[in-house]
Amino acid sequence: MASESQISFFTLNTAAKIPSVGLGTWQAAEGLVGNAVAAAIKIGYRHIDCARDYGNEKEIGSVLKQLFEEGVVKREDLWITSKLWCSDHAPEDVPAALDRTLEDLQLDYLDLYLIHWPVRLKHGSTDLAPENFVAPDIPSTWKAMEELYDSGKARAIGVSNLSTKKLEDLLEVARITPAVNQVECHPGWQQNKLHEFCESKGIHLSGYSPLGSRGTTWLKGGDILENPILKEIAEELGKTPAQVALRWGLQKGHSILPKSTSESRIKENFDIFDWSIPEDMFAKFSEFEQARVLRGEMFINENSVYRSVEELWDGEI
Ligand code: A2P
Repeated sequence: MASESQISFFTLNTAAKIPSVGLGTWQAAEGLVGNAVAAAIKIGYRHIDCARDYGNEKEIGSVLKQLFEEGVVKREDLWITSKLWCSDHAPEDVPAALDRTLEDLQLDYLDLYLIHWPVRLKHGSTDLAPENFVAPDIPSTWKAMEELYDSGKARAIGVSNLSTKKLEDLLEVARITPAVNQVECHPGWQQNKLHEFCESKGIHLSGYSPLGSRGTTWLKGGDILENPILKEIAEELGKTPAQVALRWGLQKGHSILPKSTSESRIKENFDIFDWSIPEDMFAKFSEFEQARVLRGEMFINENSVYRSVEELWDGEI
């Protein structure tokens, strides 16, 4: 357990320092995401987690440009991540996909570029209809990612939503070890096995949905912020359940990517550095019931190589 209160960054296998708290931008609606990014950066966030698939990189790019022009922050002080969508897995499509993201974000380079899912769709697909699915070939996509790293346009490369088994398979063929595996991680889905594996290989685990994706009503997960253990610890520490859930992530040793479009909650979610969860309370998190919230059912169909969620996650479900 990392107990020092200032866990402001983690060091990657590239030697780069990834800021420990990043603003997540999935499902942040057009017209709201720009304000959220601006508010976060003014509050002190230095890490924004984006993706082509979120459909909002243009708006984020305009805001970043404005913040740079106003001198609020410099490009080199920010950490910007984006992700390669499933319809751009063909090696010849990978460089153009990064270029489009860079153009939308109005940037010359990304700090981190991730393969979003171990799922491949036909180039140009606009939805997850079964006829769009083709078999993924992660090694060939990864090779194209390695070339982006060599070019300097992506200063670190990694993956997202990979099980331990899929990560192991990738390591067998990778010239460059992924710097990051970004996966769902929160007190209700702690990923202990994957976390240990990543640590043993020098891969940083970055946790998305660190609040259990509570606002995503189409998902079946319960609201982890209502968990009695979390509520009790929060009360004892005089913090909110959200702050305790986030602080737990930092003390577990992974970066966290909370999403919010509310300025007050963006602020609340960043107020987690000058205190810590004492060891005895930290131990209580092992009593949390475990359930994956983002199960990936949308990637299961008769044309997909994954016929069940168990196959998608290689049993880590
Ligand atoms: P909102 O944008 O209205 O703040 P996750 O990061 O796990 O996916 O969770 C995101 C969800 O949690 C969003 O619905 C967001 O709503 C909500 N949320 C973010 N921060 C907090 C907080 N501090 N307290 C309660 N809910 C929060």
